[in-house]
Amino acid sequence: IITIIAALIFGYLLGSVPFGLLLTRAAGLGDVRSIGSGNIGATNVLRTGNKKLAAATLLLDALKGTAAVLIARSYAPDLALWAGFAAFIGHLFPLWLGFKGGKGVATYLGVLTGLSWQVALIFAAVWLLFAILFRYSSLAALCAASATPLALWLLDLPQLAGLFVLMSLILFLKHHANIKRLAAGTEGRIGAKG
Ligand code: G3P
Repeated sequence: IITIIAALIFGYLLGSVPFGLLLTRAAGLGDVRSIGSGNIGATNVLRTGNKKLAAATLLLDALKGTAAVLIARSYAPDLALWAGFAAFIGHLFPLWLGFKGGKGVATYLGVLTGLSWQVALIFAAVWLLFAILFRYSSLAALCAASATPLALWLLDLPQLAGLFVLMSLILFLKHHANIKRLAAGTEGRIGAKG
């Protein structure tokens, strides 16, 4: 139990590093929370017009999830799930930002990459397909997050499927404002400046 608590704290702290905010600040672009959707994720960093910074945000927010899983696994395989879940929660509710964090898409993908890279490829493929078809980052993420537990279950990974049902539910809840905007037809398209 102590090792599980340690994995949770470690994952949470790693996940709570807000790369989007740190990178945009370091680049002198001000506070990314004051533009577009107000989110700290790669989609909103892209609304600053800086593609490289958005790509770096995506990569680092994903990598922290993967790192949490891999580092915890190197101690004990059972800890990987706990640390990965905690990293996702850390990104969504970081202590440093008054628990107001991101929406979790990149970190979800990073955790998934650490736990099942095959299903991470499916996530990425579904995301890309819907992003190309409709050009809404949020819609693409919601579709990919719906496909993920199903894919894990079909691949006979019930424990992971259960974890990702929970993570997808939380991801949907964090996208409530996006879902409203999608329904109203007012959601911003990928790359449109905010
Ligand atoms: O997680 C990013 C994406 O799904 C939504 O981002 O900034 O449009 O709310 P945003």
